[in-house]
Amino acid sequence: MSDRLPGPAEPDVTAAVLAQALPYIQRFRGRVVLVKYGGNAMGPGGDPGFAADIALMHSVGIKPVVVHGGGPQITELMQRLGKEAVFKDGLRVTDAESLEITRMVLVGKVNRDLVGAINRHGPLAVGVSGEDAGLIQACARHPDLGFVGDVAAVNPALLHRLLGEDLIPVVATIGVGEDGQAYNINADAVAGAIALALEAEKLIFLTDIEGLRRDVGDPESLVSRCSAAELRLLVESGAVSSGMIPKLEACLYSVEGTVASAHLVDGRRPHVLLLELFTDAGIGTMITRYATTPPSGGDETGARLGGGEGTGRAG
Ligand SMILES: Nc1ncnc2c1ncn2[C@@H]1O[C@H](COP(=O)(O)OP(=O)(O)O)[C@@H](O)[C@H]1O
Ligand SMILES: [Mg+2]
Repeated sequence: MSDRLPGPAEPDVTAAVLAQALPYIQRFRGRVVLVKYGGNAMGPGGDPGFAADIALMHSVGIKPVVVHGGGPQITELMQRLGKEAVFKDGLRVTDAESLEITRMVLVGKVNRDLVGAINRHGPLAVGVSGEDAGLIQACARHPDLGFVGDVAAVNPALLHRLLGEDLIPVVATIGVGEDGQAYNINADAVAGAIALALEAEKLIFLTDIEGLRRDVGDPESLVSRCSAAELRLLVESGAVSSGMIPKLEACLYSVEGTVASAHLVDGRRPHVLLLELFTDAGIGTMITRYATTPPSGGDETGARLGGGEGTGRAG
C-alpha cells in the first residue's frame, strides 16, 4: 500500500506545506471534527494513514471523534456463517441473529481494530458503543426491518467526558431502545446526530468515491461545493441513490444546525483528512448551509476557512 504514498519531499517543500497549514490549525484548534469512516473505505484498499492522520489532528489541538461503519465487514461474517444478508430499500433487515452478528463485528472487531490502529501512535483512542452511558438512544425504524433503528436522541455526556480528558472517542453505532433492546443504526445518521450534539466544526465522511456526483456513473460530474438548498434540489432530482442518501441527509441535518461544513471525501486516498483539513486544495464535496463564494484571485483559503459564514443564501 505504501507504494501509493509519495516519497519524502524536499525539506523546503515540507516547510512550506507546514507553514500553509498554520491558519487551518489556528482555526480548528480546540474544535470537534467528526470523522465518519465508512466500511467501504476501510477495506484492503483503505488509507493506511488514517490512524496517523487522526493522531496528527489530535496533536495539533483538534478534537477528533470517529464514528465508523462496517457494512461490508458484517456481510462478510454473515456469509462465512452461512447467513444470507437481506436488504429492503437499501436497508439491512436485521433479525435477532443478524443483530448479534452485527454487534459482534462493529463493537468487537471493527471498533477494536480502529482503536488499536490509532493507539499505535499514542494511547489516546477509546472505543465505545452507542449503548455505553446512554450515548445513542434508538427507536425501531419499521417493524419489517427488525432491529434496524433510527437515532431517537444522543446523550453526548460520555463523549464530553472523554474529550475533556484529551482522549479520542471511536464510536460503534449500536443504539439502545427504551426497553433496553439493541438496534443497528446507520453510521451516517449517527455521525450527523453526534456532530450536531457536539457542535462540531466539521463533519467529514470518508467513503469509497471522490465525492458527490451529479451523475453517479460520470466521474467528471463531481460537485465540489454545494449549499443545503442546492443539495436538496439534487436529492429531489433523483441523482443520488443507495449509501449516498443517508450521508446527504446527515450533511443537511448537521449544516442546517450548527455544524459549519460537511465534507464527502475519498477515504481510499492517502492522507485525505490532512488534505481536507490543512491544505488549500478543495477536495471532494463541501456542503455548507449557505452558498459560499471564494474570494477573487483563485485563493480558496478564505472561503474554506470561512466554513458556515456564507456570503448569501443560495437559490
Ligand atoms: N450521486 C452519487 N454520487 C456519489 N456516490 C453515489 C451517488 N449515488 C449513489 N452513490 C453511491 O454511494 C456509495 C457510497 O455509500 P456506501 O456504499 O454506503 O459507502 P460507506 O461505506 O462510505 O457508507 C458510492 O460508492 C456510490 O456507489
Ligand atoms: Mg453506507
